[in-house]
Amino acid sequence: MRQGEIVAIPTETVYGLAGRASDDLAVAKIFAAKERPAFNPLIVHVASLEEAERIAVFDERAIALAEKFWPGPLTLVLPRREGVSLLATAGLETVGVRVPAHSVAREVLRLSGPLAAPSANRSGRLSPTKAEHVEIGSWVLDGGECGVGIESTIIGVFDSPVLLRPGVITKEEIEEAAGKVAEAGGKVIAPGMLARHYAPTKPLRLNAENALPGEAAIGFGKNIPAGAGITRNLSEKGDLPEAASRLFSTLHELDAMEGVTGIAAAPIPEEGIGRAINDRLRRGADFSLIPYPSSLSSPPASQETH
Ligand code: TXA
Ligand code: MG
Repeated sequence: MRQGEIVAIPTETVYGLAGRASDDLAVAKIFAAKERPAFNPLIVHVASLEEAERIAVFDERAIALAEKFWPGPLTLVLPRREGVSLLATAGLETVGVRVPAHSVAREVLRLSGPLAAPSANRSGRLSPTKAEHVEIGSWVLDGGECGVGIESTIIGVFDSPVLLRPGVITKEEIEEAAGKVAEAGGKVIAPGMLARHYAPTKPLRLNAENALPGEAAIGFGKNIPAGAGITRNLSEKGDLPEAASRLFSTLHELDAMEGVTGIAAAPIPEEGIGRAINDRLRRGADFSLIPYPSSLSSPPASQETH
């Protein structure tokens, strides 16, 4: 990475495709490898709050959030300072920053300085939670399976804090530290809020009670779509954090399985971490309602920017 290369690294949420955040060329390589639209900014990962304060402006609320949740699965979108490639921030006046908790990521960051690292998947696709899920870039640093399993909660610390992407740190937990949090409205401010995102290649059907012919089933607790030849339960005991940690690896597994033509997911309770799980499922489902040849490495642009 010191020589401008990009490497997939483990974090506690998902694997990230990392390059030095100050290096325009490395950042350009990340966008190219992901086939990511250039308007979609990257999260900058740092080793500490002190380092974060060199690239972003922290007010009291931002410091309270950082002190409570870092290192951990929380990204703060804040006014930017200098030092980060303008390509990484997509020309915005803000920058997304986070201190990851994974021991390997922390050791890499200690040696490398700030790293721009979006999830290490092609744009719009499932995030990788194991080294073998990573299909882009030339190198993967294998740190085992990601413990959290879905991407960080993103909070924009603006006039009032705004939830830009739900994650395992819930809105209620954020509100305890930083006051009332607004839900982002219809306008897309975090491009990860694009309607179609996090998608398996096979059609994903939600709130299913029965599996259709060819469909594999994803269950949660006692909710299990009936009649499927293949069933995976995100959490037999109905535990939402466990379900979140298994979500992407289960989707990856069923997506790759021969003979499975679609995926039917049981309803997941819309509460706490369940909201983050449903957020990813809904975006994945919307996307795959429009099938396209799997020989295409990415969906037509008109779908992606929808
Ligand atoms: O858990 C995670 O956050 C993982 C790991 C690797 O850290 N990273 C990740 O990055 O999910 P990515 O690029 O897949 O998602 C980052 C999201 C995108 O939706 C992007 O639009 C949003 O963060 N984002 C980044 N900077 C932003 C900014 N300045 N304003 C609004 N949204 C921003
Ligand atoms: Mg992503």
